[in-house]
Amino acid sequence: MKISIINGPNLNLLGIREPGIYGRQTFEDFLQGLKEKYPDVQLDYFQSNVEGELVNEIQRVGFSYDGILLNAAAYTHTSIAIGDAISAIKTPVIEIHISNVAAREDFRLRSFVAAKCAGTIAGLGLKGYELGLLYFL
Ligand code: DQA
Repeated sequence: MKISIINGPNLNLLGIREPGIYGRQTFEDFLQGLKEKYPDVQLDYFQSNVEGELVNEIQRVGFSYDGILLNAAAYTHTSIAIGDAISAIKTPVIEIHISNVAAREDFRLRSFVAAKCAGTIAGLGLKGYELGLLYFL
């Protein structure tokens, strides 16, 4: 089982960035625990602050991996290119948000990726990535 986790802009700052919203754990620390808990899963991780690099990675893994957990971060609300990339690939994608985007600013209500994904998990903190992974197992 090959699963790709793709994180978008500013998620490299987890642990430091607005801890009241996103928590105090770094993603690297969280990922280490996830890999230890699911040793039989090949879990790949990619993060970029650059929209086109996220599109490139979605295309790279999108024809051979079993699932993608995508937190496109702010690009969720702006990126037609990332939405189109999800439509273009074969691998199913789950949209992940750490915070409850439905309970925040209005601009976060719009997602250009949601309709292209198998489903969305939001508001459950980093646990959402594990719940998304369980969907694919
Ligand atoms: C986020 C929510 C987005 O609205 C925001 O731009 C992010 C993170 C989340 O994980 O809660 O950067 O995707």
